[in-house]
Amino acid sequence: MTTTSEITIERCAPVDEPDAIAAEVRDGLTRALKELPPKYFYDERGSQLFDAITALPEYYPTRCEREILNRRAPEIVAATGARELVELGSGTASKTRALLYAMAGAGTLHRYVPFDVDPSVVEACAEELTELYPGLAVHGVVGDFGRDLDRIPTGERRLFAFLGGTIGNLYPAERAAFLARVARLMGPGDRLLIGTDLVKDRALLEAAYNDSAGVTAEFNRNVLRVLNANLEADFDPAAFEHVAFFDEANSWIEMRLRAKGAQTVRIAGAALEVTFEDGEELRTEISSKFTRDAVARELDGAGLRLDAFHTDGGGLFGLAVASLVS
Ligand code: SAH
Ligand code: TRP
Repeated sequence: MTTTSEITIERCAPVDEPDAIAAEVRDGLTRALKELPPKYFYDERGSQLFDAITALPEYYPTRCEREILNRRAPEIVAATGARELVELGSGTASKTRALLYAMAGAGTLHRYVPFDVDPSVVEACAEELTELYPGLAVHGVVGDFGRDLDRIPTGERRLFAFLGGTIGNLYPAERAAFLARVARLMGPGDRLLIGTDLVKDRALLEAAYNDSAGVTAEFNRNVLRVLNANLEADFDPAAFEHVAFFDEANSWIEMRLRAKGAQTVRIAGAALEVTFEDGEELRTEISSKFTRDAVARELDGAGLRLDAFHTDGGGLFGLAVASLVS
């Protein structure tokens, strides 16, 4: 733990610890449809590529969520007198600033708790935000939100935020477990904000994950580079092409990597050799698309009530505001 006057950064057990990755990777790559855990997209390069995605003309979610937050932050903050913002999967926290700004304006801003698996983004936004808001305490947590939520410091009148549609990157059973765990951390004065991408026309959805500049493809292949670096694997990223399509039955976008030519990959750190047939696909991530009703139902299943559901002017993206059912 590093502490300066205003900044504390807590590091949970590393998620890139070779034995832990090896076990997950072995499990994923020995399934009938091979699969890799998405948190390995996000090393420093992955975070930079994701940031580039958010600026792409085709990738509407970030712009829509920013529009909602800029418009609704003051009322969300006023409803609770929020003192703290706890942000899960905080990344560069670029949209979060609307919430901090509203809290500062209301005179209630005390602490920001960014929680992310990538240390580089937690450190950078701690520096930036303490500079922007002198006196703001930042308690960063570098950890896995699937495992380390108990490392979040206790507090009162907190806003928990899980933005960017990241909740949609969890499978339904993982979402249920995650929401129940977050609910257990919450007190009656806390609120939970969840950014959810909404079901819409297939062409618009698929374009957002198939940009013409190829940034998303590069981001998708980054998971292979991360495994090369952390598990002494010898994936050739150029030998895999990016695939993304909307699976309507499951209501999710599925990201895959398709082998260009038959190949064998050695993953020394997992004592594993994996063969790919020509054209074989490897699932790297899902991105679920919601309706307001589906969000309300999932919250209800975790003991949470949907207090409000804000959308952008175009109705493409939704921001749920939830509290504990008392
Ligand atoms: N909230 C930002 C970033 C979204 S991208 C936005 O809305 O633009 C998803 C973020 O979640 C990344 O910063 C990534 O590093 C982080 N992340 C992904 N899986 C994670 C995990 N299991 N635990 C903690 N953080 C995770
Ligand atoms: N949370 C983002 C989303 O579901 C993550 C993301 C955007 C993503 N583009 C991607 C993940 C491309 C994998 C590949 O929209």
